[in-house]
Amino acid sequence: MAMELRELTVPEGREIYEMVREIGSGENGFVNSLYIAGYSKFLKLLPVLRDYSAGTGLPPGHVPQTLYFLYAEGRPVGYGKLRHWLTDSLRVTGGHIGYCIRPTARGMGYGTALLAGLLDKASELGIRRALLTCNEDNMGSRRVIENNGGSMAELDNRYCRYWIDLLDVSPAEDRDKSK
Ligand SMILES: CC(C)(COP(=O)(O)OP(=O)(O)OC[C@H]1O[C@@H](n2cnc3c(N)ncnc32)[C@H](O)[C@@H]1OP(=O)(O)O)[C@@H](O)C(=O)NCCC(=O)NCCS
Repeated sequence: MAMELRELTVPEGREIYEMVREIGSGENGFVNSLYIAGYSKFLKLLPVLRDYSAGTGLPPGHVPQTLYFLYAEGRPVGYGKLRHWLTDSLRVTGGHIGYCIRPTARGMGYGTALLAGLLDKASELGIRRALLTCNEDNMGSRRVIENNGGSMAELDNRYCRYWIDLLDVSPAEDRDKSK
């Protein structure tokens, strides 16, 4: 199946808006940052979130964060957030990466594929070890993390923390190796 990860751009079409509406406000600790009623309001929110990626206009205490959409056969099926580094708060809950698959596309391997793509992006950003967190009873998310090589480091107050070691290979070094 053809899958592709695309960074948020301005503007986005209605298909992304519809996916965001289907996801709702969020669940299991995932906050749907794009959830807003009305396509015109959604369009106004997009540049704000895009600018967070460059560290512009961040809410107090927040770090730069980039949003990526997962497309399968041309249809958006979910999205994820990549935080560029950790804060003390993110070390406790949140970690480097948050993700969500739209309810009508769950159980088809997209969550696993989305996290794999986000880990590649994290590696490109220079993150060597990614922290993933989730509720103990979120079995879907735990499997997604384990499918991507996560091993649980801590179970604290019904909250799991996983670390995933990322390849320490910059794209330039990678290209050199293929010569
Ligand atoms: C968690 C979530 C991303 C999983 O997405 P998905 O596309 O269904 O995941 P996959 O299809 O890749 O499934 C991965 C594995 O989890 C299992 N799984 C998925 N949902 C499950 C559930 N509700 N209960 C138990 N196992 C589940 C699948 O069977 C699969 O197992 P396998 O690898 O052993 O075959 C999705 O349910 C979701 O968006 N949930 C709401 C937001 C959320 O919880 N985000 C994570 C916050 S930490």
